[in-house]
Amino acid sequence: MTKTTSSINDLGNVLIRSDLNVPIINNNISDEYRIYKSLEILDKIYNYSRTITFSSHLGRPKKNSLDYSLEPVSKKMSEIINQKVNFIDEIYGKKVNESIENSESKLNLIENLRLHEGEVNNDDEFAKNVTFPFDTYIFDAFGASHRNHASVVSFGKYLDSYQGPLMNNEIEQLDKLLVNEKTGYVVLLGGAKISDKLSLIDNLLPKVEHLLIGGGMCFTFLKSMGYEIGNSLLEDSFISKAKELLNSEHGHKIVLPSDFGVTELIESELREDINIEDFRNNHIGIDIGPNTISEFASILLSSKNIFWNGPMGVFEIDKFSKGTQEITEIIAKSSAYTCIGGGDSVSAINKFSNIQYFNHISTGGGASLEYLEGKKLPGVNIYNSLII
Ligand code: 3PG
Repeated sequence: MTKTTSSINDLGNVLIRSDLNVPIINNNISDEYRIYKSLEILDKIYNYSRTITFSSHLGRPKKNSLDYSLEPVSKKMSEIINQKVNFIDEIYGKKVNESIENSESKLNLIENLRLHEGEVNNDDEFAKNVTFPFDTYIFDAFGASHRNHASVVSFGKYLDSYQGPLMNNEIEQLDKLLVNEKTGYVVLLGGAKISDKLSLIDNLLPKVEHLLIGGGMCFTFLKSMGYEIGNSLLEDSFISKAKELLNSEHGHKIVLPSDFGVTELIESELREDINIEDFRNNHIGIDIGPNTISEFASILLSSKNIFWNGPMGVFEIDKFSKGTQEITEIIAKSSAYTCIGGGDSVSAINKFSNIQYFNHISTGGGASLEYLEGKKLPGVNIYNSLII
């Protein structure tokens, strides 16, 4: 639940913390979802603010790495709203202060917060410096709310601070899964690494009806059961934990694939569908197979609440994308409350379906997983939410 609301209609110079951490390859932004969602706040505050300055992290840069500049994001923001978002290539100091003081531009974006070590070290001096020219702070970066960083937990000490509308919506939507967790709650996990999701699995297993696992992460489970998995993705050091989870009190709720699309060489783009028992030592599992798709479909279509994170295979390659595509389509037509988390699943939806067929698409990757685990996140509900 969000905290009590506050109403205000003169925000002065506003600093917003958004999550504009988007994939950028050769200056091209391949997924703009977070940018669109971060801009929605403008409808609410534009007329009540003197200036509005966005801030965000981008990637996990080494100090002063130019590859991690937010400049391309400012261009994309300007394009989307058809109004200039002025990029300031500093995080704090004279340039930022002057730009805000003279209202040179109503909309600004300052440089990647993580290009200063004060952000990840949660340094108070850094927080003081960044917030100096502003009157109001709005925290609206759900995707970063699980980080104990300065912009998440310390900027708010120095300004009138509020929780933004994107944050409120994420909490409201994800809470539906927490509240509904006992009634037909099915979680579908995919993606490459089991290590990223072990504690999620641990925490969710008692709460869900079924936990379906596809993608690269299923192979560590299958290996722990003694299956041949060829050259498929394997995290050796997690085999025993996978076995422990399967043998635990709620281990019977885990549903693993029974057949796969395999190849001998990813680059060949050649695919063969086989049963798990027919794995050879030169096979690489690259997708779930047709029987698994049917089995997952019948569970998903009879559930009331679905949370999905992570693709079922190497969906970027057409020949290997069948599982992810069909699962996307099945979830899209399900009548359950459907919630999607994580960048790769969102890319799959953009590729194979349409976001309008899903109830909620979270802007959080790790943050949505940790929130659903029931963890108290450092950036959630620390400020009153803003109502204008
Ligand atoms: C994300 O992409 O999940 C968020 O932007 C957080 O990024 P981080 O994992 O680098 O903190």
